Amino acid sequence: MRPYVFVNIASSLDGKISDETRKQVRISCKEDLRRVDELRASADAIMVGIGTILSDNPKLNVKSEELRKKRILEGKEENPIKVVVDSRCRIPENAEVFNSKVILAVSKLADKEKVERINKKAEVVAFGEEKVDLKALLEYLYKKGVRKLMVEGGGTLISSLLREDLVDEMFIYYAPIIIGGEKSPTICDGNSFNPALRMKIVSVERFGEGVLLRITRSDSNMSIQNKKP
Ligand SMILES: NC(=O)c1ccc[n+]([C@@H]2O[C@H](COP(=O)([O-])OP(=O)(O)OC[C@H]3O[C@@H](n4cnc5c(N)ncnc54)[C@H](OP(=O)(O)O)[C@@H]3O)[C@@H](O)[C@H]2O)c1
Repeated sequence: MRPYVFVNIASSLDGKISDETRKQVRISCKEDLRRVDELRASADAIMVGIGTILSDNPKLNVKSEELRKKRILEGKEENPIKVVVDSRCRIPENAEVFNSKVILAVSKLADKEKVERINKKAEVVAFGEEKVDLKALLEYLYKKGVRKLMVEGGGTLISSLLREDLVDEMFIYYAPIIIGGEKSPTICDGNSFNPALRMKIVSVERFGEGVLLRITRSDSNMSIQNKKP
């Protein structure tokens, strides 16, 4: 068993999620930031790859005080658990994400001494020989009570999750901007799919100044409502 997995990502019209510097680029409009905050507040855990931590150093907290209070009233922690996928335990010891509960998923390649140090501020779990075994990690999260997992990037992690058929739903917010740059990260990096993955567009909505797309895998025959926890 694994949690319900949904990806949320903000993209330029040309599919880029940052520019060649790989530093955080403001893509979402204010309406979209609010929508993302609501999605965060609805999740049991939020997952990112180490590339995103190293580039953006995000806190991954629920920003709205009102939404945090609502979570507490529901008997939850203020913020969802943060899950970082980091085979070699490259995470900086002062990463912003450590401001609340973190599960750091490493592989057997991780340096033991660094793991011991990080273990003082986060739960470190090892799955996989080289890369993190994502399926095993999701099963572990399910056992820990995570039923709804939000994935916030980046493109390399999203690619692996799609390849392993571990994504139930994706929200892509397209802002009316073009970033360009052949080395700029995209919604789905890693190796190309052959044949291309077929997706199903569930809805398209004008949202703020951009467009919000909600998609699933085309072979997903269960309705989203049925699959949601
Ligand atoms: N616009 C947005 O909404 C948004 C959101 C998030 C990020 N971003 C941007 O995305 C970029 C970062 O994306 P990224 O692709 O470089 O990094 P990423 O997807 O955040 O992290 C990828 C890294 O995770 C580690 N990993 C471990 N096991 C893995 C597995 N099974 N599958 C995949 N990855 C695994 C790998 O590093 P190790 O081998 O060292 O473990 C891999 O390089 C930044 O530019 C950031 O600004 C944009």
